[in-house]
Amino acid sequence: MNEPSRIALAYSGGLDTSVMIPWLRENYGAEVVAVVADVGQRDDFEAVRRKALDTGAEECRVLDLQEPFAGDYIFPALRAGAAYESRYLLGTALARPLIAAAQVRVARETGCDALAHGCTGKGNDQVRFELAYQALAPQMTIVAPWREWEISSREDAIAYAGERGIPVPASTDRPYSIDQNLWHTSFEGGVLEDPGVQAPDDVYDMTVDPADAPDEAAEVEIGFEAGRPVSLHGEEMAPVDLVDALNGIAGRHGVGRVDLVENRVVGMKSRGVYETPAGTVLSEALADLRSLTLDHATTSFLEDVSSRYGELVYRGKWFTPLRDSLDAFVESAHRNVTGTVTVRLYRGSCLPVARTSPDSLYREDLATFGEDAVYDHADAAGFIRLWGLSSRVYAGVHADRWKSAGAPRTAEAGGRSDGNGARAAVG
Ligand code: ARG
Repeated sequence: MNEPSRIALAYSGGLDTSVMIPWLRENYGAEVVAVVADVGQRDDFEAVRRKALDTGAEECRVLDLQEPFAGDYIFPALRAGAAYESRYLLGTALARPLIAAAQVRVARETGCDALAHGCTGKGNDQVRFELAYQALAPQMTIVAPWREWEISSREDAIAYAGERGIPVPASTDRPYSIDQNLWHTSFEGGVLEDPGVQAPDDVYDMTVDPADAPDEAAEVEIGFEAGRPVSLHGEEMAPVDLVDALNGIAGRHGVGRVDLVENRVVGMKSRGVYETPAGTVLSEALADLRSLTLDHATTSFLEDVSSRYGELVYRGKWFTPLRDSLDAFVESAHRNVTGTVTVRLYRGSCLPVARTSPDSLYREDLATFGEDAVYDHADAAGFIRLWGLSSRVYAGVHADRWKSAGAPRTAEAGGRSDGNGARAAVG
């Protein structure tokens, strides 16, 4: 491996990546180009830029990536119904490939021959950055200081920074590992490392405690076109503005908190707290609109795709042919997922309460309990006989299989009425 001479570093302005600038210079004798990606985190980017330069970076580029983040990463994942292990809406996982791509771009523009990131050797983010690097710039060297250096704690990093006159962020910072962008804020570490302990109130950032939310529900009407959100209350909005506005409304009503234990790529379980206010509302609303506009077979197939898509994003496989192909299916499946959904937000809950679509497959004349002229009840008889044919055949061979089903519970049956007797002892 060639020793790099100029390294593009994914830079946030936090303690770790700030310490990395002098470390890379000292240990690789290389110049450092700091790349700052604005994906909607609420930072003072001018201050971040100055800090990179003060710390020894040759150059610092700040890139506003909010629009591509919303339009090309968040919305495709939303449309795919992606959530990792059914619950995590992938805010961090979606931003990483975009940040890596921007970094590769800057690296090329500024003549770098290596790419560095500030992720530890224990997390998912190193995997996501480096899989993107390998897909986009396979010839560049990858440097991951956290996997090489002697610094092993925040105290070490502070000492290293102190020796080099690097300002350390105030210790009033919340003691969590926080990742924030347009789509979410995530919290890990500190007291959260014990999954048996409730997250303290000071964790949350984008949402109020549902118990403190207004006692009056809010309703939002979201418009979708082909599975992409396009309007709020009938007013057309660009993706970033729409997500931003909805984050505000949903956050005020305590919507979008998730507290979970997830399986990391490298194998261990980890406890995370997430706030995804707009994402939660949009996911519920879109799922609701699908129910009006998609047939059962497509919906059912999409459920499989959603889960695969979520896993793929979480595991760093954004720049892969499989993701392209899944997107092609998802896009085609959503051709007619167009319409509006009204969602009621109330103290942490988020319920779709009305939906309309020009492409609705719902037919009141078919579904009605009232009198109808289009459906012949007698047709159901033949259908059900055929639908049940296999059940009748099975019953003919295994007459006793569900013999006691439907019997009330009795003491003799050990509290169980399914004919299997008492629960077997464990051990
Ligand atoms: N566990 C989440 C994920 O893997 C969030 C990671 C957040 N990163 C961080 N540096 N705190 O996507």
